[in-house]
Amino acid sequence: MCGIVCYIGSKEATPILIEGLKRLEYRGYDSAGIAVHDGKNVHLVKTKGRISDLEIKISNLQIRGNMGIGHTRWATHGEPTDINAHPHTDEDGNVFVVHNGIIENYSILKRRLEKEGIRFRTDTDTEVLAHLISYYFDGDLIEAVRRALADVEGTFGIAVIHRESPGRIILARRGSPIVIGIGNGEHFAASDVNAMIRYTANVVPLEDNELAVVTRDDFNIMTIQAAKIVNRSITTVDWKAEEAELNGFPHYMLKEIYEQPEAVNNAMRGRIDPAEAVPKLGGIEPVWDDLKRCKNFIIVGCGTSYHAGYVGRYIFERLTDLDVDVELASEFRYRKLNFPSNTFVLALSQSGETADTLAAIREARRKGAKLLGIVNVVGSSIARETDAGVYNHAGPEIGVASTKNFTSQLVVLTLLALLIGRHHNLSYTEGAEAIRELKALPGKIKEMLFQANHIQAIAEKYYRCNNWLFIGRKFNYPIALEGALKLKEVSYIHAEGYAAGEMKHGPIALINPEMPTVAIVPQDDMHEKMINNIQEIKSRKGPVIAISTLGDREVKKIADDVIEIPRTLDYLYPILTVIPCQLLAYYCAVLLGRDVDKPRNLAKSVTVE
Ligand code: G6P
Repeated sequence: MCGIVCYIGSKEATPILIEGLKRLEYRGYDSAGIAVHDGKNVHLVKTKGRISDLEIKISNLQIRGNMGIGHTRWATHGEPTDINAHPHTDEDGNVFVVHNGIIENYSILKRRLEKEGIRFRTDTDTEVLAHLISYYFDGDLIEAVRRALADVEGTFGIAVIHRESPGRIILARRGSPIVIGIGNGEHFAASDVNAMIRYTANVVPLEDNELAVVTRDDFNIMTIQAAKIVNRSITTVDWKAEEAELNGFPHYMLKEIYEQPEAVNNAMRGRIDPAEAVPKLGGIEPVWDDLKRCKNFIIVGCGTSYHAGYVGRYIFERLTDLDVDVELASEFRYRKLNFPSNTFVLALSQSGETADTLAAIREARRKGAKLLGIVNVVGSSIARETDAGVYNHAGPEIGVASTKNFTSQLVVLTLLALLIGRHHNLSYTEGAEAIRELKALPGKIKEMLFQANHIQAIAEKYYRCNNWLFIGRKFNYPIALEGALKLKEVSYIHAEGYAAGEMKHGPIALINPEMPTVAIVPQDDMHEKMINNIQEIKSRKGPVIAISTLGDREVKKIADDVIEIPRTLDYLYPILTVIPCQLLAYYCAVLLGRDVDKPRNLAKSVTVE
């Protein structure tokens, strides 16, 4: 949730830390700070607010130094104030710590240290780490960090520097990502590669329960518990620095909506063999023999990834003979799980670090399931902890509200379902048809994006309405959920996503002329039923914005506003119908003056439960 960035080398650390923090701001943005070592002393600057506030504070100071740590925070313990911002220090101002995660036993540790006469200044759980490290420090910083972490229960990704230990940064990880970036005569570290991608594509992710000592010219990884040296090879990420720039767009969310033709293309690139009508998914090979025998398949995820999984269930049911379930990872992990043999659990996650999704797969593994992942961030925890999986290659997604990752996840889900389906009963003709239509999707998305002005005009008509409803059926029921989520997240308008068939069981009581309904009504086998639902709303004077297939006259006659989408296969419609929902949410948020890329109280990557 929060972001960490570190630099050690021969350049000035401050601008690199600030630049990195700006790239991580989407992970948390209620306070920020840096600590820079000048070889003798450490300069600490921190503030409530955004990185821009930190920059203003720094501009009045002369901070020099070639090594430092920085943090942008999303408050869990303690209000977002100057004093609660990271880095945190010990009483003497020798130890400086930035921390992502939660120290669960912090009140016990705090009481213990207070008995020793140590005074605490903040309401955070992190401060306890600074005091503990200082307490154990006798000249050996690695040892002090190891001993402190041995006392800690909970999760952490940390970076530590010490005034008396210039020239080294100590990193450690348990449950919260830390990645080392390898430069030339310099090293970086961050909670997310986005922070370093401008400087290096060569990275080494730490695994859980590992500690790293990073100097200008070297880095060493060891286990926290036994200090056993670990050899780890360097991973090269294929994201380009310019992909993480705005490139003329006013917001990342809009840029990422417009990147969907490419993201969808990248999700299929090299994976489609038209001759055989069978996708090629190299990442699945290690489990293919088991997967062929699998009957029971469960998809888990959170937020938008959960909605992709929900569409995935319908796609799997349509193309394969599997019994498929989908569940919120945060609920699944607490269920009494009892799997038939050869059960597969598929985790969907953009970041690959969502705490609930990780906990869900760990629980599933404990109960004997095999694990698959569809993940965007290469080398992330979920990618490493699953038995096999597929990267969706959407590129960096910076906007807190997920957009391009969703559509690219749907493409990979379709490819996986096709692969399994072709092994089951799906015919060559159906497989070939699916591949043909998948390949046509990027062009169709581009066509839809030409309608952005029309969608903006619809947003202008309705953005003052305080309550919205989104309805859909079957493949597009999860799109109703996702449409409502997008609107809530970025515009703070109250919206509900409903299965259209449930209208009569409650939501219809809400319908009035001030409450617009977005009806997702492509030409599939649910069309007639959806038309009936729209009639029911219209007869109660509710405005209807319909998302329908190009040339659908029936819908045009009854809906107040229509957004048309190109024709495709029934199970591929969600990849198209979600795009007007994303744009509607975006334009409403802009019209309401919201901070689109960093909505209040949210974070891109939720690494706490
Ligand atoms: C957060 C983000 C959402 C995202 C969800 C799951 O809530 O704000 O946009 O869908 O986490 O994230 P994941 O990285 O697991 O897809």
